[in-house]
Amino acid sequence: MADPDYFSWPDEHLKPSVAAVYDDAADHRFGPEAVNPAVEFLSELAGDGIAVEFAIGTGRIALPLSEKGTTVVGIDFSEPMVEELRKKPGASNIEVTIGDMTATTVCTDASLVFLVFNTIGNLRSQEQQVACFANASAHLAPGGRFVIETGVPQLSQLPPGETIRPFDVSARHLGFDEFVDPVNQISVSHHYYIDGDRVRTQTGAFRYVWPSELDLMAQLAGMYLEDRFADWHRNPFTGDSLAHVSVWRKG
Ligand SMILES: C[S@@+](CC[C@H](N)C(=O)[O-])C[C@H]1O[C@@H](n2cnc3c(N)ncnc32)[C@H](O)[C@@H]1O
Repeated sequence: MADPDYFSWPDEHLKPSVAAVYDDAADHRFGPEAVNPAVEFLSELAGDGIAVEFAIGTGRIALPLSEKGTTVVGIDFSEPMVEELRKKPGASNIEVTIGDMTATTVCTDASLVFLVFNTIGNLRSQEQQVACFANASAHLAPGGRFVIETGVPQLSQLPPGETIRPFDVSARHLGFDEFVDPVNQISVSHHYYIDGDRVRTQTGAFRYVWPSELDLMAQLAGMYLEDRFADWHRNPFTGDSLAHVSVWRKG
């Protein structure tokens, strides 16, 4: 059987059925212990300026950031996700543009652009990821910052000959990453959300990328690495870190 064309799989968030349950996801990232440190970190960097969230989704981070006093604007290409955001209190304070984060520019004087929750990987080619960095830079005033939160590819955890690694095995969620195409750096995430005796599945394709490649993309876009942490609490990033929060500054 021919390999599936992972590049042209539609993003799962374009489906109204996925958007409708996005905030119910049994993921620790929806709780205040995950959201608050991210909001704290981002509000400090935004200062008095405008913060642009690429792939704003249902406003998991944007809404509390706006509530804290930061002016937030957002871009997302999924109408259904943005419709969910618009139902929430405080949504009228956030201007959201429906568009592609690789090409849609909503301002040129932001102090901060941010792209969280591994979403750089939703862009499945290097070309698209490079375009995303260029677009982030185009939004920023000189000295402004681009922040990405994403995982470190876990290929080194795979036993020889294996392609699948569990990343969450808990009572309400099973998640497995399948490394399907090491040449193009494509993985497929398989999610099983368990609710009593019902199971909902969700599958998405991603381009995984190492921090060093992201640094080069930043450099191409006129930005340089200012900080890299293992998490929003600013714990040090090491060779064992599973994720990173990286900050690039526009020169
Ligand atoms: C995992 S969700 C993250 C949403 C939100 N940032 C959060 O932290 O909860 C990924 C989001 O990326 C959006 N997205 C994916 N590719 C995109 C693109 N090329 N341009 C704009 N939005 C995109 C999807 O529609 C979805 O809302």
